[in-house]
Amino acid sequence: MPLPTRSAAWAALAAHHKTLARVHLRDLFDQEPGRFERFSLEAGPLFLDYSRNRVTTRTLSLLLDWARESDLESWVARLFAGEAVNQTERRPALHMALRNRSNRPIEVAGSDVMPLVHAELARMRSFSAAVRDGGWTGHSGAPVTDVVAIGIGGSSLGPRLVVEALAPYAEPRLRIHFVANVDGAEIDSTLAGLDPARTLFVVISKTFTTAETLANARTARAWYLDKGGDPQALGRHFVAISTNAAKVAEFGLDPEKSFAMWDWVGGRYSLWSAVGLPIAIAVGFDRFAELLDGAHEMDEHFRSAPPAANMPVLLGLIGAWYGGFFGAASHAILPYDRRLAQLPAFLQQLDMESNGKRVTREGEPVDYTTGPIVWGGVGTDGQHAFFQLLHQGTRLVPADFIAAIEPHHGLAEHHRMLLANCLAQGEALMRGRTLAEAGAELAAAGAAPEEQQRLAPHMVCPGNQPSNTILMRRLDPRSLGALLALYEHKVFVQAVLWRINPFDQYGVELGKKLATGILRELEAGAPSGTRDSSTNGLIAKVVSPS
Ligand code: F6P
Repeated sequence: MPLPTRSAAWAALAAHHKTLARVHLRDLFDQEPGRFERFSLEAGPLFLDYSRNRVTTRTLSLLLDWARESDLESWVARLFAGEAVNQTERRPALHMALRNRSNRPIEVAGSDVMPLVHAELARMRSFSAAVRDGGWTGHSGAPVTDVVAIGIGGSSLGPRLVVEALAPYAEPRLRIHFVANVDGAEIDSTLAGLDPARTLFVVISKTFTTAETLANARTARAWYLDKGGDPQALGRHFVAISTNAAKVAEFGLDPEKSFAMWDWVGGRYSLWSAVGLPIAIAVGFDRFAELLDGAHEMDEHFRSAPPAANMPVLLGLIGAWYGGFFGAASHAILPYDRRLAQLPAFLQQLDMESNGKRVTREGEPVDYTTGPIVWGGVGTDGQHAFFQLLHQGTRLVPADFIAAIEPHHGLAEHHRMLLANCLAQGEALMRGRTLAEAGAELAAAGAAPEEQQRLAPHMVCPGNQPSNTILMRRLDPRSLGALLALYEHKVFVQAVLWRINPFDQYGVELGKKLATGILRELEAGAPSGTRDSSTNGLIAKVVSPS
């Protein structure tokens, strides 16, 4: 398949961009009173307003041509059919099977994987229930009070985000901790104050070879044994979730008692599997199942809604429009919900590890930009930190605002203020403030004409910054499941547009390989001198600080 930049759709979009780049969003809203109705839609528990984007009906029709020329609909069918859409690793990417709540069989290499999925879900149900009701006890017979989930990347970010987001549903008797970083400060501070007799470690690693996770798991095991833990009862305090039974056994755990993962699920798409065990323990399996329900609803929407009314497709197309034609380098994730504080970090991995690629599926270098830098933070905190650049900086930064209409707490006034800020920021970014408006504001505040002239230029906000707003009734398991699946599919749509494979991550391997060599030199206490002068010099500095 030729590069998209050679396609008729790309040429048409480039020509259309020349006209639209001069048009202000204010004018689009002034010209089209029904813009909100036209450019918004509902899918399951989510509502999306995409009217504050620099698009017209014509833009969307050209973007949909791009999707057609990229064979998007057939790629979606191939994804759901379990074809090896991860071409480099020759694997399917069937995270949708983990949350397939229908009776539809899903096959990998000719065999239905749904019985495997259901069996593992049933084990999760009974294990999480036992930990929650105190039936699962440690070596001394004491129930578990603290669960430490050890894992990194996709084996941590998803469960961590969901546990934090669904805290209002959590069992208060249990504390869930997450340890990802190999920085000893993380596990050291987590273990301080824990009682080994009441602590359960959940070691999550698809490969069970990830250096950070294994180092943290070994430290946890040594801590448990040092504090008088019974070596025979290791299996009551450690449970593994992995595809690699041999490595689990090497660590000293019974693979039969471990939870399975499958190589047809990528790490960053795995929170719906037993990787989500910390979630099921925290909020209960029924809530975990509701999370799966919400994701399944989004899967069905993605699979069946026409492209022009398909939420992940629209978000993917509009994001690619800014990257490809407006030169936007980043995409901001702005949840107006404290409990979604981990969402930007989760989406960073999902999007950047998936679409941070520079060759096509066939290995041909691309001549256009691919995945954006994903970043963000919660509102209203962000308004007092980085929003200034969005309002008056020189870059185009598309953003997603995300909010729940009803809070879990009873502080109605706080929630109204939060939502008012969320809606106002989107409006301010879209409209901006003209020189005349700035002058008028100063005049209304009683400023003298010279003062108006002096200050007004500094108050101008160009506006025309695009944003989406995603609303849900409540941040509940079902809405959260739908939200995360929405972004998973958006990332897939963009990968199809850019002709790249979103399911491998060879780039990550390079740094891991070099770290292994440098670790050997640090252990030996001397640089080998075989590297560049900077790396050699830094190794020497670390080994002999004086
Ligand atoms: O960061 C690279 C990566 O391979 C991620 O894709 C993955 O989620 C993470 O490491 C952890 O891998 P594992 O679950 O195998 O420990």
